[in-house]
Amino acid sequence: MKGIILAAGAGSRLFPASLPISKILLPVFDKPMIYYPITTLLLAGIKDILIITSPNDINNFKKVLQDGSQIGARFSYAVQEVPRGIAESFIIAEDFIKNSPVALILGDNIFHGHGFSDILKEIAKRKQGATIFGYQVHDPERFGVVEFDKNNKAISIEEKPKKPKSNYAVTGLYFYDKHVVEYAKSLKPSKRGELEITDLNKIYLKQNKLKVEILGRGFAWLDTGTFDSLLQAANFVQSMEINTGMKIASIEEVACRMGYITTQQLKDLAKQYKQNGYGLYLERMAQSITQHH
Ligand code: G1P
Repeated sequence: MKGIILAAGAGSRLFPASLPISKILLPVFDKPMIYYPITTLLLAGIKDILIITSPNDINNFKKVLQDGSQIGARFSYAVQEVPRGIAESFIIAEDFIKNSPVALILGDNIFHGHGFSDILKEIAKRKQGATIFGYQVHDPERFGVVEFDKNNKAISIEEKPKKPKSNYAVTGLYFYDKHVVEYAKSLKPSKRGELEITDLNKIYLKQNKLKVEILGRGFAWLDTGTFDSLLQAANFVQSMEINTGMKIASIEEVACRMGYITTQQLKDLAKQYKQNGYGLYLERMAQSITQHH
């Protein structure tokens, strides 16, 4: 399975903080925001990843992430010239996707929870249909909203409804089968002039091929869209990391645990952060991870 990270938004809600650089490269505590969605894809077993950026930011992303080989992955880059909607990703990525199933994650979506990687690995095996995630929030009108029947089967999805039919937001992580490019091309722009991911999901829903997995309250799905929520996300990460002594979304550590790089490679990566806390952490992980190959 292939993966796409959409990191093209202007991030104007965070201006002036995100004026000099894409919001998706701003730090969430101790690492750039994009480390979090990369981690989600790596945990799903996805190593072949296309990063879609705005024309202005592509070089900054390349500087931070390179070609991915340093963590045993493959990063390629594409540009979304104008923000024409999330579903346009699949049209931009057509040559990259070819005939493969594909996962899309929005660059500002942070997921954390016990057992998440097992769920992701299971879903990544599905060859048919689409899978999205529902998460209970207090302000569903800000999101895509999914409504369930008595048997917990999804029956409707609406984009930013004024009167939400449930409290379940659709998160920014989506898994699709190989038909996604063809369906994305059939979409018409919405009133706000965008190819809506919600309209794409509705195509799968209509065909009875949309699975909605509920992420329970033990999961964290963090928002980074406002000054306050960005700081809150950083505080959450800091507090978890201090309590457990383990980092959230260290792509180097995850790559090593997944067997994409060796512990020796992890030690080498640690050296570039010399004696700071991040480097020391990678070194400690390299000592403690026992590899089975
Ligand atoms: C987008 C989607 C929405 C989804 C949200 C998740 O909203 O359109 O359906 O719930 O991402 O982050 P946007 O970020 O464009 O407001």
